Amino acid sequence: MDKSGIKFRKYFKEYSFSNVLAMIRNNSRSPQVCEEDGHGQLVVITGATSGIGYAAARKFASKGANLLCLNRNKEKSEELKHEIESEYGVSCDYILADFSSLEDTHKAAHQLLEMEKPIDVLIHNAGIYLTKRQVTPEGIEKVFMVNYLSSFIINYILKAKLKSQGKCRIILVSSEGHRFAAWGMRFDDLDWSKRRYGGLKGYGAAKLAQLLSLIKFEEYFRGSGVTINAMHPGAVKTSTGQENSPVYKSFKKNLLDRTLKPVSISAEALYYLGIYKDLETISGKFFNLTTLEEPAPPALDAENAERLWEVSLKMGKLEG
Ligand SMILES: NC(=O)c1ccc[n+]([C@@H]2O[C@H](COP(=O)([O-])OP(=O)(O)OC[C@H]3O[C@@H](n4cnc5c(N)ncnc54)[C@H](OP(=O)(O)O)[C@@H]3O)[C@@H](O)[C@H]2O)c1
Repeated sequence: MDKSGIKFRKYFKEYSFSNVLAMIRNNSRSPQVCEEDGHGQLVVITGATSGIGYAAARKFASKGANLLCLNRNKEKSEELKHEIESEYGVSCDYILADFSSLEDTHKAAHQLLEMEKPIDVLIHNAGIYLTKRQVTPEGIEKVFMVNYLSSFIINYILKAKLKSQGKCRIILVSSEGHRFAAWGMRFDDLDWSKRRYGGLKGYGAAKLAQLLSLIKFEEYFRGSGVTINAMHPGAVKTSTGQENSPVYKSFKKNLLDRTLKPVSISAEALYYLGIYKDLETISGKFFNLTTLEEPAPPALDAENAERLWEVSLKMGKLEG
């Protein structure tokens, strides 16, 4: 296998125009609406203090589900708890964790592991978009850590517990942005120290990694009652990108945001994927909102999924 992970020829043959056309068509579709009730469900959501996570938290709570949110900001978490509990009469607890920290991520995962109550739905939503490369104190590129590795660590630590529950739906909030990593994972430069970093490229790589992890986790959970799927939540107006320069923020506010859809479509889709009865056994799939879609060829590369799994165990300080 090539050391870098570049498989230009392989992917070039696999790319098809119809796949891209399907994505364009799906981007204009509205999500399916799930009318089923969520009472008694425990829904764990990461990054519920803003944007898609916040809208999804409200949606699940409005249907009677109890929430456990994994957030980085205490004040916002308290506000969210107060708002949701007083408005909907469900519980909205939280665990504080900064997903750019390996230590925080491990701690949060172990808190979930020790919980007695089964997790019905686990939504990995927390994510960032950076225009400039940043690395964590552990030397991991930050977008890769927050958008991918933290969710890998949590899933890995919880996997036996979830399997023993015999039922859970894991949802990865991914992105059509995985298509920016058009030539696959660069295993020789996961921290972007050798190449010029670009926001879309870094973001694409992290979202691609998330989709590759789907392949391996689906294998692990197959037949257990636990499902794992990924979704693109639409191009929606949220607070994403606030860590970037004033120029980027002005571009986002004055141009980009005008083209984006309301975040309610993402919440509707997440509720559907988390609760809709007929999806109970569907696993290992990628949805554009609620429409089943084939991701780009590098996201279906089983060999790279295997390789990434091993790399992630090391980077995430997990036992093999
Ligand atoms: N918006 C879109 O059009 C779009 C499209 C495709 C995919 N997505 C994906 O959707 C997900 C949600 O993004 P969004 O658009 O809703 O953005 P957002 O409004 O910025 O919300 C991101 C959430 O993640 C949390 N978060 C960020 N960094 C964190 C960290 N280090 N540790 C813990 N939590 C952290 C944020 O917490 P704070 O409130 O403390 O900042 C916030 O709750 C992301 O995975 C994103 O890639 C979004």
